[in-house]
Amino acid sequence: MDRDIDRILLTKEEISDLVQQIAGQIDAYYRSVGVSEIIVIGVLNGAAPFTADLIRALKTPLRYDFVRVSSYRNAAVSGELRFLKDVEIDVVGQHILMVDDIIDTGNTLKKLESIFKERGAASYKICAFLDKQERRTADIDAHFIGQVIPDSFVVGYGLDYDERYRQLPYVGILKREVYEK
Ligand code: IMP
Ligand code: MG
Repeated sequence: MDRDIDRILLTKEEISDLVQQIAGQIDAYYRSVGVSEIIVIGVLNGAAPFTADLIRALKTPLRYDFVRVSSYRNAAVSGELRFLKDVEIDVVGQHILMVDDIIDTGNTLKKLESIFKERGAASYKICAFLDKQERRTADIDAHFIGQVIPDSFVVGYGLDYDERYRQLPYVGILKREVYEK
């Protein structure tokens, strides 16, 4: 697997430093607004490793759950998300922290925002480990970001290409020849 990687973007050590930094920002924010408990929702499958690390770095009391979604391809229902797995915690009046591995266009997190606000969440904040800011098309407020990265295809630490490479302990740029062949 390592030989399919062009360049390492974040080492295991850099990842763990970033997780501590983001957790510190999140704790400080919720303390400042007087929120005493949050619901952390990880977006499967990519956000699983990051969510697992983040919850153990956070001091804010929390409950956590996961969603797994896919976008409808049917044009007639475009803009809709299909839940392959939904949360099992009642979110009414709760403060949601949605956690994803990476923000690309931002469409997924934007749709999740309208869905969870409609369900009656008291607040909705986004936390993503990586951010391809230049690719953004959806109007979202990415509150807590680990690192902004250039527009290249990255894998590892939960990020996949065709469901593979998620297990890599680092984040690396995938060689073009891997996905162009
Ligand atoms: P968005 O709705 O366009 O922001 O899609 C974000 C999702 O696309 C992420 O949760 C990832 O699953 C996937 N994604 C975007 N860029 C990459 C990448 O470079 N590597 C792996 N997955 C990516
Ligand atoms: Mg994903």
